[in-house]
Amino acid sequence: MIIESPVIDAILARQTIREYRPEQISSDQLETLMLAALRAPSGRNTQPIHARFCQNGAMLKEMQIDFKNIVGWDTPVHTRSDTNPFYHRAPTFAFLFAEGDSRMEAGLMAENLCVAARGLGLATVLVGSVGPLFSDDIAGPKWKKTLQIPEDWLFMVGVGIGHPDEAPEMKPRNEEQFMVIG
Ligand SMILES: Cc1cc2nc3c(=O)[nH]c(=O)nc-3n(C[C@H](O)[C@H](O)[C@H](O)COP(=O)(O)O)c2cc1C
Repeated sequence: MIIESPVIDAILARQTIREYRPEQISSDQLETLMLAALRAPSGRNTQPIHARFCQNGAMLKEMQIDFKNIVGWDTPVHTRSDTNPFYHRAPTFAFLFAEGDSRMEAGLMAENLCVAARGLGLATVLVGSVGPLFSDDIAGPKWKKTLQIPEDWLFMVGVGIGHPDEAPEMKPRNEEQFMVIG
């Protein structure tokens, strides 16, 4: 039997949402999400992830233009890239960076954000595909400067956050990958 709890409910209900209503999340929701992200664990508590929460739609649109100029306007770089920008029009978008390649810590922080957002009745989309924007020789330094991130730091992953405007089926999972040995 699956045990019910608010945390388990949020984990089981989280899913990728790629369509958002335009209204912004509240400042209390943002503050709560930032605390949830900050509480993510890291090896030896090194806390290598620096997050930037962008709520500036005009800035995200400008980033999208630079991104497309880098990867190509008709290249299918991510799901629904023919209709949606990389941030899927989520009104809040968190960019996670690290000084080194701290993908484990970035993943843990990103999942904290996604589960916490779901617990607050919000939706999320993880976005890895915008990476080329930050590794580009010209756009990378420009946007890192805007986001107050040192040039040599690496983009890890992004998280779009907002109010859902679609209700897709849950994506299936392969239970055969799990086994109890005993
Ligand atoms: C590291 C990572 C990067 C991802 N990057 C993107 C992305 O760039 N664009 C996108 O639309 N979805 C992206 N996703 C979302 C996945 O496609 C999605 O999590 C997966 O299909 C499972 O669906 P679910 O989240 O609804 O369970 C990413 C997910 C992860 C974990």
